[in-house]
Amino acid sequence: MAKNKLGIIVGSNRRESINRKLAQALARLGGDAFEARFIPIDDLPIYNQDNEQPLPGTVARFKAEVEAADALLFVTPEHNRSIPAVLKNAIDWGGRPYGKSSWPGKPAAVTGTSGGAISTAVAQQHLSAVLANQGLHLMGGEAYIRFTPDLIDAQAQVTDENVRTFLKSFINQFATFAGKLAPQRAAAAA
Ligand SMILES: Cc1cc2nc3c(=O)[nH]c(=O)nc-3n(C[C@H](O)[C@H](O)[C@H](O)COP(=O)(O)O)c2cc1C
Repeated sequence: MAKNKLGIIVGSNRRESINRKLAQALARLGGDAFEARFIPIDDLPIYNQDNEQPLPGTVARFKAEVEAADALLFVTPEHNRSIPAVLKNAIDWGGRPYGKSSWPGKPAAVTGTSGGAISTAVAQQHLSAVLANQGLHLMGGEAYIRFTPDLIDAQAQVTDENVRTFLKSFINQFATFAGKLAPQRAAAAA
């Protein structure tokens, strides 16, 4: 059976992003269940309603990639106790033009990492609220990952066994969640 297509959106445009490293590790851990594809957001212009007609090429590409995904994994940093602007910008574009949102009905999971004590918990709460507003189906649970310099190696392997086990269970749980929603999504598309 074909694997579910997982679109991964990393809420950082930083070259050495620790959240991209976490996302790569999750893509690897979920390799049995998902065919993962990263959906870039760093080339999107700043949202402006004046520029919706026609949609900029990068935005059309972004929306098509979101729409092609069976499920979406958001891996986000926390900026000033909220969502990074680059991620909010992508979500805003994805929801436009009015009536042509790319988000409704997509199964989604949220996680993120920072070196801070509460490891993106506040950003994840803000993100979950925004995604629920856009009509995505969010998996419950919490995955706040505290980053340490050697947590993920150059091969995207999680070096800490407890964290690896936790992340494997998180991504497997998401595969089950997305699978349960698949018939509902197929019926809605028919
Ligand atoms: C503008 C800005 C605000 C930040 N605010 C927070 C914050 O609220 N909480 C936190 O844990 N880390 C915060 N950080 C530190 C980030 O966790 C750190 O830069 C991390 O590397 C960002 O993830 P990335 O490497 O994936 O871009 C902030 C960093 C920046 C640049």
